Amino acid sequence: MNNSDFIKFFKPSIGQEEINEVVECLKSGWLTTGARAKQFESDFAQYMGVKHAVAVNSCTAALHLALEAVGLQENELVLVPDLTFAATAEVVRYFNAIPVLVDSNENDFCMNMEEAADILERIAAGKKVNGVPEGHGKVRAIIPMHYAGQAANLVKCRKLCDKYDLFMVEDCAHTCPGYYLDEEGKWRMTGSTGDIACFSFYANKTITTGEGGMAITNNENWASRMRVMSLHGISKDAWKRFDKSGSWYYEISAPGFKYNMPDTAAAIGIHQLKKSDIFWERRRSVAKKFTEKLSGLSWLLTPSEMPGRKHSWLMYVIRLTGALPSGLLRNDFIEKLKEKGIGSSVHYMPLHMHPYYIEKYGFHKNDFPIARKLFEEMVSLPLYAELSDDEIDRICLAVREAGGAF
Ligand SMILES: Cc1ncc(COP(=O)(O)O)c(C=O)c1O
Repeated sequence: MNNSDFIKFFKPSIGQEEINEVVECLKSGWLTTGARAKQFESDFAQYMGVKHAVAVNSCTAALHLALEAVGLQENELVLVPDLTFAATAEVVRYFNAIPVLVDSNENDFCMNMEEAADILERIAAGKKVNGVPEGHGKVRAIIPMHYAGQAANLVKCRKLCDKYDLFMVEDCAHTCPGYYLDEEGKWRMTGSTGDIACFSFYANKTITTGEGGMAITNNENWASRMRVMSLHGISKDAWKRFDKSGSWYYEISAPGFKYNMPDTAAAIGIHQLKKSDIFWERRRSVAKKFTEKLSGLSWLLTPSEMPGRKHSWLMYVIRLTGALPSGLLRNDFIEKLKEKGIGSSVHYMPLHMHPYYIEKYGFHKNDFPIARKLFEEMVSLPLYAELSDDEIDRICLAVREAGGAF
């Protein structure tokens, strides 16, 4: 097969607008954080309907800053989904705090809030919780993650946060834009109701800056703390210190980090954001076509949009739920897709199955049975705005053929 016929797992949509803006930025001579990063922040805050946005160089950085801003301390606990990317839990470890893993719902793959409630109750009663060492501190936060772009149950999450006085820090790496219905029947954007919400603009995300992230909040103190800590803990407008409107003088208020977003990246982000709803519309239509073409196979389950949610469709994750007529197992199925020129992936091997978490907290493979089952069955298919109808047909045919039914 010709290399150019290979359908990549992801592909960013970069238009002439992004290219022109980056060129303008390069020509301007100001490559680091500056006016473009500031514009991207205000455009993003407006899009999300929140007061503050802090642009950084990754979602991991945003999550780290968010937990720092809400005051996470060593030995404290933070509830995170077991079925997530490394970043969601590793940021808790940056503080020497303890990530408390929570299993998934089978229908939306997101954190099971009933199980989260049970864990919180057990902790409050001083009972043992899997993976939580004795002598731990208080629970500080919950990090719901919106798997593949579908909102976790934020209504229940907020109730738990209110009941136990916790912060809700949303991991919105998969969702821009996404929506959920609140208790008053109002559509809310994922990220707009968390205490702090963190977005990723990594190259495979719904909008991208290559690498990049954003932390949003309505709380001015947290916003300004995150801003200061994103640039070495030095005074507020540190990024201006080499500009004519700034000053060479600064003071260090805390040992911060180097997480600022450069203007070269923001130049891309400004135009990606303008097209966010157009990209979303196309991804929704791609997902609809996948579902039409892949329904009705006894061994395959297509993902569905839950009532009261509007899926971002960052990823289209099918499940191989029965024996495949071809006799292939999941990993061979992925190899077969590759032979047929289709890139696919697995999101994710649950955290409790990784060596670090096994060694650190003593997890067993069979803990968190739903996340484990989903992991064994799942295959993420390519899903992006630039996927053509012809490519959608090729992907669906390859899936059917690899499964042994067409
Ligand atoms: C769920 C989740 N959280 C956080 C991240 C981290 O994002 P970044 O690469 O921008 O740090 C990712 C990255 O893919 C992710 O999938």
